[in-house]
Amino acid sequence: MEAILELRGVSKYFAIGLFRKSLIRAVDDVSFTVHQKEIVGILGESGSGKSTIAKMILKILRPDKGSIIYRERDAWKIEDREYYKRVQGVFQDPFSSFNPRRIVSDIFRDVLANYTGIRITSDKELADILNPVLSKVGLSARDIAGKYPHEFSGGQLQRLSIARALLVGPELIVADEPVSMVDASTRIDILNIFIDLKELEGVSSIIIGHDLSLANYVSDKVIVLYKGQVVEEGPSDILVDPAHPYTKMLAESVPKIDSKWSERLRLVNPGQAGPIHRDGCVFAERCPFKMDKCISQSPPLVRIGRSRVKCWLYAGK
Ligand SMILES: Nc1ncnc2c1ncn2[C@@H]1O[C@H](COP(=O)(O)OP(=O)(O)O)[C@@H](O)[C@H]1O
Ligand SMILES: [Mg+2]
Repeated sequence: MEAILELRGVSKYFAIGLFRKSLIRAVDDVSFTVHQKEIVGILGESGSGKSTIAKMILKILRPDKGSIIYRERDAWKIEDREYYKRVQGVFQDPFSSFNPRRIVSDIFRDVLANYTGIRITSDKELADILNPVLSKVGLSARDIAGKYPHEFSGGQLQRLSIARALLVGPELIVADEPVSMVDASTRIDILNIFIDLKELEGVSSIIIGHDLSLANYVSDKVIVLYKGQVVEEGPSDILVDPAHPYTKMLAESVPKIDSKWSERLRLVNPGQAGPIHRDGCVFAERCPFKMDKCISQSPPLVRIGRSRVKCWLYAGK
């Protein structure tokens, strides 16, 4: 399949602390490719750099190093309007991604006017354009007629933010934790929308999350981040049989239906972004397999089978 988007050694640093004196690596030399008709899951705990990656792809933040290539062109050299016709975002909190003072159909009308130049004069005309798009997310123009964002449930509103993204006819949707704020019972339905879009229309997605089973369900390929670095990447079945000690730890921390509090799972401490000057493996401090080398040298990302793993247990074999 054709490559749509490619991150090449992308890094983002933030100045933090008193007088903004220390720099942290929020995203550290990240490379991956998204192909046509592919869902890429990005997994990692809070603070691992997931949203920063999404914001860079959506041109909300500029990378400090590396480049983001969209169909062989630097994303930052593509005019915004042209770029956003192809690449759209869906965010975690649907309530804050809609203007609360405007009815949803007016918001949609403006998107159409801004991106497609279609000026709609009648409600009938608007309904005719919206219905095919809304049906992809399980809604219709009648469901939204005259309604404000707060009149919808979180799940419905998240469907509407996907519909809004679809209005411009994108080929890539970047969804930052699209189901973490919606009711657990509707999560799969919303993820199914991304799968249908891929299967039926060839639309690719990057779906960010922290839930391994959901990532495995929806993704073709997964990228596991730790402290801003890709530690493991491969087909989504790597989550069932992980190689990297961190992915193993994440997989073990998924509670099984028969897990009880009495067999309490080991708590995973959030791996916050590290300082700019650092030697060794980012995961060394928490790794049960730590060797001397892990403290002094950062492991390379090596290919094993169909995946890539950044760990000295596999490097040099
Ligand atoms: N605007 C910012 N200024 C300073 N630090 C930031 C900013 N945005 C994110 N960070 C830091 O960058 C790291 C990665 O953040 P983020 O990308 O939001 O992670 P995630 O989405 O995986 O939770 C965190 O340590 C976070 O505190
Ligand atoms: Mg985030």
